[in-house]
Amino acid sequence: MSEKLIRSIAVMTSGGDSPGMNCAIRSVVRAAIGERLKVYGIKRGYQGLINNEIYEMNASSVGSIIHHGGTVLYTSRCPEFKEKQTREKAAQILEDRDIDALVVIGGDGSFKGAKALHDEFGISVIGIPGTIDNDISGTDYTIGFDTAVQTAMEAVDKIRDTAQSSDRTFLIEVMGARTSSIALKVGICSGAENILLNNEKVNYEKISSDVRRGIRRGKNSSIIIVAEGESPGRSYQIAKVLEEKHEISSKVCVLGHIQRGGSPTPDDRFFASVMGKEAVGALLQNLECHAVVVRDAKVHVVPLDECMQKSDHAMINYLGVSETLSI
Ligand code: F6P
Repeated sequence: MSEKLIRSIAVMTSGGDSPGMNCAIRSVVRAAIGERLKVYGIKRGYQGLINNEIYEMNASSVGSIIHHGGTVLYTSRCPEFKEKQTREKAAQILEDRDIDALVVIGGDGSFKGAKALHDEFGISVIGIPGTIDNDISGTDYTIGFDTAVQTAMEAVDKIRDTAQSSDRTFLIEVMGARTSSIALKVGICSGAENILLNNEKVNYEKISSDVRRGIRRGKNSSIIIVAEGESPGRSYQIAKVLEEKHEISSKVCVLGHIQRGGSPTPDDRFFASVMGKEAVGALLQNLECHAVVVRDAKVHVVPLDECMQKSDHAMINYLGVSETLSI
């Protein structure tokens, strides 16, 4: 491993924002300043990097942000970053500014961009998992998941009040493109009668028999949590089939982007704060292409390669809990 002297680092948030990203930015900036490093903020993720939207940060730049959702660095999705010539431009900008290492707070797509910057141009990178989806391999937890689950769960609790009062079945759609972690946790925590995963064919017979079994047992309402999957709004089509083919009428509520905002929970604040500091420590130890992760409730630094896939591993094994308890 080469002994590269790290004197200045940059931090960015990338992809969908998530509550707790600000805590991670604050932690990176203050830990870096504590180590006498220069620290830069890159606005709007990789898009901002190639547009040179970079500014020097100090301890006050991150004052009074710990309790705010969103990200003070702004964020974006940058499909152009999949092209090598775009990454070359980014690497040149980092070099021109004497930035020795990059901290990327984002999801698996953002990590892929970071890994390419390292492999192709030798830039030291470290990833901090930040997405409400909790869908990154190699970590049990991503910043923002806990807050998003709390927001969705509170909404489901409210809908249950009205569902119960009016003898209704509700389909409540939660976020998670190509992932079901939010659906699984919200479904278990709110006692949903069914959870529909993002990638499975909808089993209408099962939903119908579960709803009817509940009615026989004296239940007068049902809550079905639907992972949004590839296309938000799929619940409307599911409701239509339930009505037309199974004589089950239902109401649909798509929770949408409300799940991405709000003040972060203590868990999101805590882990983001610990992970940001660890990220700076790892860079100073000359770890060049790593990620800070949570495994078994402890923070670790692991090779970034372990965190490059979409994965529901942290939640998927709990599906049986919901099935057992929702009789
Ligand atoms: O950030 C993750 C996520 O919220 C997914 O759960 C959701 O499907 C997607 O982003 C929506 O992204 P956007 O608002 O950028 O279209």
